[in-house]
Amino acid sequence: MSSRLKSFTSWERPKRTAYNAVLARMRSEADYHLASFFRAKEFVRLQPPILTSSDCEGAGEVFTVSTNARDTAGLTVGRGNGERDEEFFKSSKYLTVSAQLHLEAFVHEHPSVWTLSPTFRAEKSDTPRHVSEFWMLEAEVRTELLDDIMDLVEDMIRTLVYGLQSSSILVDLAAARGKATRTPDDSTLSCLEERWKRLLRPSWPRLTYEEAIKKLQTAVKTGQASFNYAPSWDAGLHLEHEKWIASEIGLGSPVFVTHYPASIKPFYMLPSVDSFQPQNSACNTVACFDLLLPEACEIVGGSMREHRPEHLLRAMKDKEISPSNLDWYLDLRRYGSVPHGGFGLGFDRLLGYLANIENIKDVSWAL
Ligand code: 4AD
Ligand code: MG
Repeated sequence: MSSRLKSFTSWERPKRTAYNAVLARMRSEADYHLASFFRAKEFVRLQPPILTSSDCEGAGEVFTVSTNARDTAGLTVGRGNGERDEEFFKSSKYLTVSAQLHLEAFVHEHPSVWTLSPTFRAEKSDTPRHVSEFWMLEAEVRTELLDDIMDLVEDMIRTLVYGLQSSSILVDLAAARGKATRTPDDSTLSCLEERWKRLLRPSWPRLTYEEAIKKLQTAVKTGQASFNYAPSWDAGLHLEHEKWIASEIGLGSPVFVTHYPASIKPFYMLPSVDSFQPQNSACNTVACFDLLLPEACEIVGGSMREHRPEHLLRAMKDKEISPSNLDWYLDLRRYGSVPHGGFGLGFDRLLGYLANIENIKDVSWAL
């Protein structure tokens, strides 16, 4: 068997898709280094379901799953006896937008869990950063501190870059890219090296959303920056704001922006201060973060989770989320929970960043 396998690798390979081949190898290597990172930290790797009953982010950006039990004229296909086929599922089912809720269930069994799994979003954002199908790396840990989760993210990305640096991927990427785009290999290589080096800088800056908005507004007032969208508390950060923050505050390093207004974040996030205010109260914030990469955009979103049942119910009510499909999620709190939090990393976005590819579709080949 082993001699047969050996002969597979020694076959002459056609060189037509050299660049795609290196990207595929980088994806495979990255999976290996990330798995080793989490294994060394004794995380349990999970394979959560793809078909779910819940819209984790509560944004309505789900693909609904049904059978093809309709003919082309849109009529329900019956059994020929006038009877209608029953729906395959008894209630609405969706392709998962995030494995977080399932990971939260498991974090009550194991102190720390993770997954790298397919994710689907019916987001109407036709940009070089959005696809309908992508892979998300998600982790969930028992902790009381948002900083612990950001530390984990920093450590994970740095370990991945160190791991990839120990292989020939960087040089191979630059060479294949050079050939594909007819640019000199050297400039491609130094550009990639610089990009990776920035990720290895220690202690990425952390600032609150409030500080970020103030800095953006000051930059506009003093003429240091101009934006198409005026920075404002309720509107969230636009891509142009995120890029400015990464460049001017991060000075090329990734930057964590923390504690966004509760009104623009999902129902499951723990309030920053222990209040029992309505979620849309003007200055309520939640214990969360987005990680912004230089020249790119948000690559990771994470938060502490609301672990108290009555507070969670209240947050769901404020966001008009029906508790009926999330009864099991509420039960996790009703029958005893622990403080915990986690994050989701856009795997395809990260690979695109590492390879300096502008359009995520060139990395994921997805729609
Ligand atoms: O910020 P998001 O929406 O966070 C969640 O889904 C959390 N439930 C994760 C968690 O805490 N377990 O998504 C996480 C990341 C984003 O930062 C982004 O990198 C990526 O997923 N992402 C997309 N990547 C490509 N195409 C899209 N349409 C994406 N939507 C999100
Ligand atoms: Mg996000």
